[in-house]
Amino acid sequence: MIPLVYDQINRWSKDDEFFLALLKKLNIKKLADLGCGTGRLTSHFAKVGYHITAVDPNEEAIEYAKSKEYPSEVSWIVGDSSNLKSNAFDAVIMTANVAQVFLTDKSWQLAISDVYRALKPGGHFIFDTRNPLAKTWEQWEKDLTPDVAMDPISGEQLEIWTEYEGFVEDVYTFYETVKNARTNEVLIHEKMELKFRTQEEIDDSLQRAGFSQIQVYGDWEFKQATAKTNSFIFHSVK
Ligand SMILES: C[S@@+](CC[C@H](N)C(=O)[O-])C[C@H]1O[C@@H](n2cnc3c(N)ncnc32)[C@H](O)[C@@H]1O
Repeated sequence: MIPLVYDQINRWSKDDEFFLALLKKLNIKKLADLGCGTGRLTSHFAKVGYHITAVDPNEEAIEYAKSKEYPSEVSWIVGDSSNLKSNAFDAVIMTANVAQVFLTDKSWQLAISDVYRALKPGGHFIFDTRNPLAKTWEQWEKDLTPDVAMDPISGEQLEIWTEYEGFVEDVYTFYETVKNARTNEVLIHEKMELKFRTQEEIDDSLQRAGFSQIQVYGDWEFKQATAKTNSFIFHSVK
């Protein structure tokens, strides 16, 4: 996650609409946005009146999020799932594949156990994650052109180049480099790692944490996921 360019290369989209629609349908009042990043969705949630706690270990991303609209409506926490209050939320969400940043089974299981603890009885846990069977990385690796963004301070054009290392053990690894397009100066170089878990693995882990009524939607439609969908959206209940 590179806060300087993240919002510019991750625009509001149907996945964000999906989360908003599902929360509305469930009549959620108190919400936690775990792995909120730059607060892309958080400020929308605050705008439409949710009582929201937003958590992320990336301090720079939280500072950026606070510079958006409605910052005082949100309880911001630089931290992780262990910082969530117990029995406090009607829903916890993790958007834009936060689930894939937990690289080990232990860290994943710990995080979802924290989410279970943080939810009120009957509370909802909603998150998306990419389907390993869809092999999305094969599409990524074909795209050899940089993303472009603008430096918000200097107004200069930036290029974001991605180098794909592929799977190292069972973790997909790539590097993002942000350059000044005019001078070619490297401003940021960051390693990114993603864990791809199967639908069955996630299902098992949710049950182990205590969740039930597990539903899996596919590709931002309120339809059951299939083996071919690119994204799974898991919805389970405490
Ligand atoms: C792809 S971004 C998604 C940000 C945001 N949810 C969105 O929709 O734009 C993944 C986020 O997960 C955060 N993250 C990394 N490790 C985490 C952890 N242990 N607990 C919670 N969030 C974490 C990163 O800092 C980053 O902001």
